[in-house]
Amino acid sequence: MLFIFIPCLLIGLVAFIVYQHNGKVGLTKLPPASLAQWYKPENKRQVWLHNMFKLRREMQAVEYYAETGNDALLNKWATRLNEHYLKIGDMVPEWQKMLNIRAISDVKESVQNKQFEMLSEAMNELSKSCDTCHDNYRATTATLYRAPDFSTIEISPSISLVEHMDALTKQVNQIKITSEDGMTELALASLSDLSDGINTLGSTCINCHKSDKRIYPDEAIKNSISQLKQNLKTGTLKDQGQELGTLAVIACARCHGTHRISYDEKSKLTAKPNWDQLLKH
Ligand code: HEC
Ligand code: HEC
Ligand code: HEC
Repeated sequence: MLFIFIPCLLIGLVAFIVYQHNGKVGLTKLPPASLAQWYKPENKRQVWLHNMFKLRREMQAVEYYAETGNDALLNKWATRLNEHYLKIGDMVPEWQKMLNIRAISDVKESVQNKQFEMLSEAMNELSKSCDTCHDNYRATTATLYRAPDFSTIEISPSISLVEHMDALTKQVNQIKITSEDGMTELALASLSDLSDGINTLGSTCINCHKSDKRIYPDEAIKNSISQLKQNLKTGTLKDQGQELGTLAVIACARCHGTHRISYDEKSKLTAKPNWDQLLKH
């Protein structure tokens, strides 16, 4: 008896703490772990996502052939819709209960019996079940399974990506500080370091961007670096500030807009709960 009771008590306690904690930070719903088998790396293809694209196409086809009155094709697409909708529950059994089985069988039945009013209602109900699941899980799923993962990207065995990022930021600020204070030589030296750091960072892109060989730094970034160099030597303080701003946007912010935001989100979702922190609440 105790063998069951004590673990249950512990699980209960932990669940309670996590629940309390979640109340503070807002609840994020994670998809069941069984979904992972339908995504890379467990699967070669994004099977789940492809089933979803089929569903959308099939909903459209059913609506179209119901309107235009083509019974044979209506039947064909309704059969597929039925198959792929039910497949959701086969693929992720935990989500079986989110399906509206009544609605999908009404779709099938009304197509067979050519009851178009009933079909339209059933399609509405079906569509609501798509929306409910999407509202809860779509964003977290896309982030978890499809956002590019930078956790294994490093600059060298001794320099992590984050350390390199911190160095880049320091160089950007160093240029700003020293140019403002009239220390041109130092500003130029920092720009040279920044330029090297940008080149080094560029060698990591190929890990994933395999087809486009040299995407970073591109021509625009290179031009901006040489323009900034010129401005630091002969330009006004305003020219220098503006060019540095431009460089920061095209060499840093643009990539952050895609990669840092989505990787941050992904890291949050995959982070193991920190029990020390949880217990402190
Ligand atoms: C039980 C949950 C669930 C149900 C029910 C469901 N979906 Fe989805 N759907 C998802 C998840 C999770 C994603 C996110 C997949 C991803 O981005 O990799 C998704 C993504 C999609 C996408 C891709 C969205 C995009 O534009 O990127 C389409 C299209 C889609 N679903 C269509 C449908 C249709 C149509 C139905 C109803 C007939 C439906 N889904 C029912 C869970 C569900
Ligand atoms: C871990 C894999 C990975 C690494 C490393 C990576 N990328 Fe990406 N990147 C992707 C994927 C996948 C996309 C496609 C869009 C998406 O799903 O976010 C993308 C899209 C982008 C985009 C937006 C879309 C486009 O093509 O314009 C930019 C900009 C970008 N990457 C820049 C970079 C730069 C610059 C580097 C190197 C400093 C880099 N990426 C390194 C995987 C990666
Ligand atoms: C791949 C495209 C990419 C480019 C280009 C890029 N970054 Fe980043 N940056 C990232 C990603 C991804 C992270 C999040 C890394 C992590 O949390 O592990 C990050 C994080 C950072 C951080 C936070 C580091 C920390 O301590 O958490 C700083 C600061 C930063 N970048 C500065 C820069 C600067 C300055 C530039 C331009 C000179 C730049 N980055 C260019 C992708 C990029």
